[in-house]
Amino acid sequence: MPHAWNFAGERVLVSGGAGGIGPAIGEAFVRAGARVVLLGRDIATLTKAVEVAAAASEGDASGVVCDLQDAGEIARATGEVIDRLGGIDILVNNAGVSMHVPLVECTDEVIDLNLDVNLRAVMLLTRGLLRGMLQRGRGSVVNVSSQAAERGWPENTHYSASKAGVLGFTLALAAEVAPAVRVNAVCPGMVMSGMMRGNIRATSEHKHISYDEAYEEWSSGIPMGRMQRTTDIANAVLFLASDDASEITGEALNVSGGQTTH
Ligand SMILES: NC(=O)c1ccc[n+]([C@@H]2O[C@H](COP(=O)([O-])OP(=O)(O)OC[C@H]3O[C@@H](n4cnc5c(N)ncnc54)[C@H](O)[C@@H]3O)[C@@H](O)[C@H]2O)c1
Repeated sequence: MPHAWNFAGERVLVSGGAGGIGPAIGEAFVRAGARVVLLGRDIATLTKAVEVAAAASEGDASGVVCDLQDAGEIARATGEVIDRLGGIDILVNNAGVSMHVPLVECTDEVIDLNLDVNLRAVMLLTRGLLRGMLQRGRGSVVNVSSQAAERGWPENTHYSASKAGVLGFTLALAAEVAPAVRVNAVCPGMVMSGMMRGNIRATSEHKHISYDEAYEEWSSGIPMGRMQRTTDIANAVLFLASDDASEITGEALNVSGGQTTH
């Protein structure tokens, strides 16, 4: 029996809402009565995600298109959301990109993409919506970082650096905006999403092994014995955003089946 969260009337923005973990987070908030805006880059997948979330409905769901690598787009999308809902009470910075490239082969474009989407966009989106939260004297930001911020993964320096940056941002902003606004992070381990399927395919091609063998390589070493579901991450996000976590700020919650600390 899932926890009966109540976010009735809360205005929630979830970035990366069109695919992967984001739609699960959005759907969980909609089921809990929130008014949810899913932010995504691709209009077709975003529309589909909004339809699915809206069908879960206690609350409601809508979408806003935005390329998070583009600072001008973020400013426009932030303005659109504020015009539509009057502001946001809960911001979930979930969008992210990941690719496996050894540092010596990392182009400037790969480094820029990771830092822009995984870190700079988190700062810009938060900055755009934070003023309203501070004026209202309440709000919550949940940043989706990664266990890659806390462990050393080969061929992942650009991603790890961006996600560790998100943790630093979380700690500093939590201290800056308390007690009005709480700022926390969730660090997933391995979640079966498009990103993870891409990682498994890359390992399979790189090592000339089957997809199933590559999956085994990725998932072995998780003490709980399986990759996380998107709903596992959603549950942690909703907890941190909820009043049940009212004394929790500046924290990073690992949801990795024990892998991060193993
Ligand atoms: N899947 C995992 O195993 C895993 C592990 C640790 C952390 N994470 C983190 O969880 C978050 C969600 O990842 P996921 O697994 O759902 O990945 P995913 O690739 O399935 O989804 C990522 C989402 O981000 C969006 N996105 C990417 N670039 C964008 C851009 N320029 N503008 C707007 N949106 C953009 C995509 O459209 C997509 O909706 C990410 O921050 C990721 O780093 C995932």
